Amino acid sequence: MEAVGHLLHRIWLFFLLFWLGQGRQMAPPGFVESSCHSRIFWMKLNKLLLQGKFFQLEIYDPHSGPVLLDEKLASRCGYVLSEDVWGNPVLRASVLGCHVANEADELFSLTVNIKVSSFSSMRAAVTYTYPMYCSYASWASREIVCEENYMEVSVKTDVPAVSNDYTVAWMSALPETQNVAYQQWHLMFVSPSGRKRITVSDAVKLGYSFNNSLSRVYLRAPYHSNESDVSVVSGVNMNMITSTSMYRQRWLLLLIDTTVSCPVDGISFTDTTITWTVPRVIPTLVVQESTFLSKSVVMGVDDQVIVNPEEMNYLLEHNETHIRITIPTGAEGGKLESSISDGVYGVIYSINLFLEHTWTDADWQTTKYTIIKSITTPFMPQIPTVINNTVPEERLFNVAFGHFLPDVSLVAITVGNVPFSLREALHHGFKIYETPFSNGTKAFILEVSFDDPYVLKEYVNRNETKYTLLVNYTLTVGAEMTLYYHSAEVECVIADIEVPEAVGSCDEENLYLTLPTFGLHQYWDLYLGTNLLNRHLALTNGYLAATNSTHLILQIPLFAGGLIYEEVSFQKIKARFDVALRKLRTMETLQMFSISCSFNSSAFIICHPNGTIMVSAQMKTVPAIDMSKTKLRDSSCKPREYNEAHAFFKFHVTTCGTSVRFEGDHIIYENEISYEKETLPGQSIPTITRDPDYRLTVLCYYQAKETLVLGAFSRDLATSPPFGSGTMFPRSNTAAYRRVRQALNVVSRVSKDESFMEFYGPSMAILKQPMEPVFLEVELKDESLNVELYLENCWVATSPDFNNTPRWNITVDGCEINGSEFAAEFCPVPVSPRVRHPSHFKRLAVRILAQQLEQVYVHCLVAACSPTNTQPSSTCRGQCSSNREKGFPGHPSGSLQGYVLAGPVWIVAPDRR
Ligand SMILES: *[C@@H]1O[C@H](CO)[C@@H](O)[C@H](O)[C@H]1NC(C)=O
Ligand SMILES: *[C@@H]1O[C@H](CO)[C@@H](O)[C@H](O)[C@H]1NC(C)=O
Ligand SMILES: *[C@@H]1O[C@H](CO)[C@@H](O)[C@H](O)[C@H]1NC(C)=O
Ligand SMILES: *[C@@H]1O[C@H](CO)[C@@H](O)[C@H](O)[C@H]1NC(C)=O
Ligand SMILES: *[C@@H]1O[C@H](CO)[C@@H](O)[C@H](O)[C@H]1NC(C)=O
Ligand SMILES: *[C@@H]1O[C@H](CO)[C@@H](O)[C@H](O)[C@H]1NC(C)=O
Ligand SMILES: *[C@@H]1O[C@H](CO)[C@@H](O)[C@H](O)[C@H]1NC(C)=O
Repeated sequence: MEAVGHLLHRIWLFFLLFWLGQGRQMAPPGFVESSCHSRIFWMKLNKLLLQGKFFQLEIYDPHSGPVLLDEKLASRCGYVLSEDVWGNPVLRASVLGCHVANEADELFSLTVNIKVSSFSSMRAAVTYTYPMYCSYASWASREIVCEENYMEVSVKTDVPAVSNDYTVAWMSALPETQNVAYQQWHLMFVSPSGRKRITVSDAVKLGYSFNNSLSRVYLRAPYHSNESDVSVVSGVNMNMITSTSMYRQRWLLLLIDTTVSCPVDGISFTDTTITWTVPRVIPTLVVQESTFLSKSVVMGVDDQVIVNPEEMNYLLEHNETHIRITIPTGAEGGKLESSISDGVYGVIYSINLFLEHTWTDADWQTTKYTIIKSITTPFMPQIPTVINNTVPEERLFNVAFGHFLPDVSLVAITVGNVPFSLREALHHGFKIYETPFSNGTKAFILEVSFDDPYVLKEYVNRNETKYTLLVNYTLTVGAEMTLYYHSAEVECVIADIEVPEAVGSCDEENLYLTLPTFGLHQYWDLYLGTNLLNRHLALTNGYLAATNSTHLILQIPLFAGGLIYEEVSFQKIKARFDVALRKLRTMETLQMFSISCSFNSSAFIICHPNGTIMVSAQMKTVPAIDMSKTKLRDSSCKPREYNEAHAFFKFHVTTCGTSVRFEGDHIIYENEISYEKETLPGQSIPTITRDPDYRLTVLCYYQAKETLVLGAFSRDLATSPPFGSGTMFPRSNTAAYRRVRQALNVVSRVSKDESFMEFYGPSMAILKQPMEPVFLEVELKDESLNVELYLENCWVATSPDFNNTPRWNITVDGCEINGSEFAAEFCPVPVSPRVRHPSHFKRLAVRILAQQLEQVYVHCLVAACSPTNTQPSSTCRGQCSSNREKGFPGHPSGSLQGYVLAGPVWIVAPDRR
């Protein structure tokens, strides 16, 4: 059973090798390994030393020289050229094979030439000569070998007494044996097609090999020959050749049973195991089954006997009918290999086993039955899994991808659809490493930060971010390095977004909303009702927005659009401003911010959506008027509340004489607060009253689409801003700004051009480009002929407030002033249907030179001078001398002063007009 170096033989062979000369060498160390297992030469070549090379084997016959080993020769001569599971070429040869030198059925030697070349044509091959020696003396009476490509039976020639049961058949064969040539072996096959007797040389032509040695005869047959038969034994298919070898020597006829039978299947697979089943008793080989006695069952892997199969997790069992070997897939001794089939990842397991069964029976004393089997499982798909080991708190994806055999490598990775080689991926900051498992598999771990730019981020729910890692692995699989791709999507949702809180505050005239700018326009937006609160809406509603690096501050003036007036009373308003924080696309409301403040306001007008108008009118006249006597157009509409300087009215647009008109897409409701003045008797100039003439026009504008039809006020709540906008202004600009005891009844108008024919209405915007003159007309409402109006001091300011600074003078003491910001020029006043007394009028063209002002008012202090006055220079002081020279008469004594205000005039850049 073990390799024996036969010294003499070896020395002889060395001589031979030297003698044979060139091209023949000793194999390099480690290239060839050999052993003897029972009666088989076992030779293995190291595939690492054959990389990129081609090789051929020759059997060196000491008598006839080298014979090329091909498939046909192999099965006939008892050779198998195969591979072990690791891919190393393996040659197995029967000691009874052709060209094996046999010394007394005990010592066997075989010489193999290994030819190695870099070319498939085997050009320039190097030949290594490798001799092998095996000794085998413990022959059983019958030995059967079931190899991969042949069946071999050898029997001891002195043993086979013809079996009793066969006697009849043998006797019937005798007439044929009479014809067997003297001293020549014949073979007789019995098959379903009948009996066939042939000579040994004819048998060779059919692929058989028959020979005899000193003490044995043997027959080697290919599987599935014409003379063979297939039968099922204990559920296993067997290939069987029933044959008798015959030899006649003088009067003696020698008949030897050389029947052989080998299993051709018996292997089954489950997901986890390989099972190899062999019948324990093969009837054609054991004629008297009652005498059958199993002596030993031994298994082995490759060329090694496994003494304790259970140590390797193998299972070797046998009962009355079967011998069974069970190997767990992946068990030691075999090889697991990764593979790709139809784009699917999987594994294949292979193992080379042998089974040796020795039994005795009455006919044959001992039979040794050896089966050698190389087993490869079918492709077993093993879809790799991606395991999510992410710990959200670490804000790091941790993803394991496995399990893989060592023959799998990760070569590239795509993250968020961006491809990275491994080196690039590590350089970018992804962590990629392998983690091994105790069973020899491994997984690839990938770590990617949530904050990595290639991680997809989505704002979800209220305050959560969904992080998505899209990964596509590229692997090379198996010895062929087949590319394999696997993609996965790992998500993690964490609450890492803080929905902002707003702070509200108020001052005397405004509400303020302070909101962190984080996430604004990125995750959410502010909405006023259903309208996005953007720059345009802020501008239209009159809000002011300012930001610093962290916050948005929104200033909402008390009478700006979009406010809700919760309580309105005399001098007090409670106003509320509501905005919603809504998610960008879904419009889902995340948060409502509401600021509510009370204001003390003395003058206001509120046009409620339901058509109710609330006005708090301020009247700072001297002397104070009796507010209880103020009224609307319908004099039955009196103030609800009042004090010395204020009156509060509340009325509906359909009442109190309110008039309505349409202007563009607006509807305008107009009423007037007035005061019936009492004329004081005994006044020298009866046309000038003691009580100020008080008239306050009240206007409410509504969008036309939310109007009233036939006096019924209705509003489309969903689409329109809730409130109308209102304005109030004194009808005659004589009002409230100057504390004068007696005031002139003067009015100012702004003409559309220098003809002074058409004038801007009270609610019309006056827009001027820089340099374009504003044509101002001031009229003294008086019938007395001898009175003349003078514009004593006029100035331009950005506010209607009398005391507002800065101010730019345009007339001083009745003279035009041409400054760097404004220039004024008097215009002549000819008589016309409108102008009966030109002395009651003054006209001024005011040219605005400054560019940066937006809105200006023209203020004028005026005087009326009567020619009856004898001291013009003292009473009408400061009349422009040039005016006088132009022929204006002297000033009346007892002149009265007045004040007019015109504006606002909007100065706009040419393109905005
Ligand atoms: C012997 O083992 C085989 C295979 O495991 C089984 O099918 C059979 O039933 C067994 N026979 C007996 C007698 O237990
Ligand atoms: C190897 O071990 C891992 C981890 O214990 C297990 O998940 C995997 O299924 C095992 N693979 C095989 C082929 O046994
Ligand atoms: C992964 O990459 C491979 C090769 O580029 C590609 O064919 C496959 O479609 C990718 N898988 C996914 C889900 O993108
Ligand atoms: C991955 O694991 C994290 C943490 O346990 C979990 O929040 C997340 O839902 C998981 N994602 C997937 C796709 O399973
Ligand atoms: C997110 O919102 C939930 C309720 O919607 C709340 O319980 C949780 O505290 C919030 N988390 C953060 C970080 O704001
Ligand atoms: C921005 O303004 C807010 C509100 O006024 C204030 O609280 C915050 O400190 C300011 N931030 C900076 C960076 O100035
Ligand atoms: C209109 O609304 C105002 C303010 O909410 C309320 O005071 C008034 O009574 C309402 N008028 C009508 C006619 O509903």
